[in-house]
Amino acid sequence: MLSATTPEAIARAAALLRAGRLVAFPTETVYGLGGDATNERAVAAIFAAKGRPRFNPLIVHVPGLAEAEALAVFDERARRAARRFWPGPLSLVLRRRDDSGVALLACAGLDTIAIRAPAHGVAQALLRATGRPIAAPSANRSGRVSPTEAEHVAAELGDRVVLILDGGRTRVGLESTVLDLSGASPALLRPGGVGIEELSALFGRIAAPGAAPPRSPGMLASHYAPSLPLRLEAVAARPGEALLAFGPDAPPGFAEIAWLSRSGDLAEAAANFFAMLRRLDRPSFTGIAVMSIPERGLGRAINDRLRRAAASHMC
Ligand code: TXA
Ligand code: MG
Repeated sequence: MLSATTPEAIARAAALLRAGRLVAFPTETVYGLGGDATNERAVAAIFAAKGRPRFNPLIVHVPGLAEAEALAVFDERARRAARRFWPGPLSLVLRRRDDSGVALLACAGLDTIAIRAPAHGVAQALLRATGRPIAAPSANRSGRVSPTEAEHVAAELGDRVVLILDGGRTRVGLESTVLDLSGASPALLRPGGVGIEELSALFGRIAAPGAAPPRSPGMLASHYAPSLPLRLEAVAARPGEALLAFGPDAPPGFAEIAWLSRSGDLAEAAANFFAMLRRLDRPSFTGIAVMSIPERGLGRAINDRLRRAAASHMC
């Protein structure tokens, strides 16, 4: 499935992406495992392919600032950063636009989004040919180092991806710098291809990772947690509850039911998860009950998120 980066191959890759399939492609930092960022199922497939135990938010790739402005709220500060460093190895965390069309799963339910415009001819050509934002984490299995050659991707994900565009060894070789501009002061979330010195030249002193209160995904104040209490492993209804159901049979008596997957398909459940949780989170219900979800594959990531959302009500 390794492929040269001819215009025909890029057109084929773009067609696969638009059809919801996954394609690995080179960027100037590391290889990315790409999926259509507007397609919840494609994003779920990314998490499944990587074997990630939880839904970390993904970086959404665009050709440039114009396309990025359709996805996130840019202030002058963010525009300055984009003009100075894009295309390039800088990802900006910004407030997500409500009308962005980006899958909730790509942002792991956060109201922020990480965006970057990669500086690689193949990545740029692919983004333009696809005509959609591409969500792409590094194309390695969870817990492994990021791949800088197409062969690394083939070795780890060869059985899980239909096409790998082989652009040779990547130039930068480490991931993009992640800079959070969603708050009052800029914060460095991950050091990477753009140095902190270069950022400080533009922004003044920048809080290094760990210096500020933790902003890692699960701990963000803005992180989406339902306002209704969550009750996990539910087997019977309590008065006024809504149900997040999984599998063919739901217990009777719930005020409303949202079906993560009737057939017990964990990829379908992951794709529906954040949207359905939001849909049931209404004051007309007394709480949200969730049926048991198997602790395997994407089920582990769903359960991780459910447990943390349930725990957030206890403090
Ligand atoms: O160089 C790169 O950035 C590569 C290439 C493929 O572009 N991509 C990459 O993606 O390294 P990934 O998923 O392996 O890393 C994404 C990082 C994680 O540290 C994640 O927590 C952070 O970006 N991130 C993404 N969205 C975020 C958000 N809304 N808020 C805070 N952090 C976010
Ligand atoms: Mg990674």
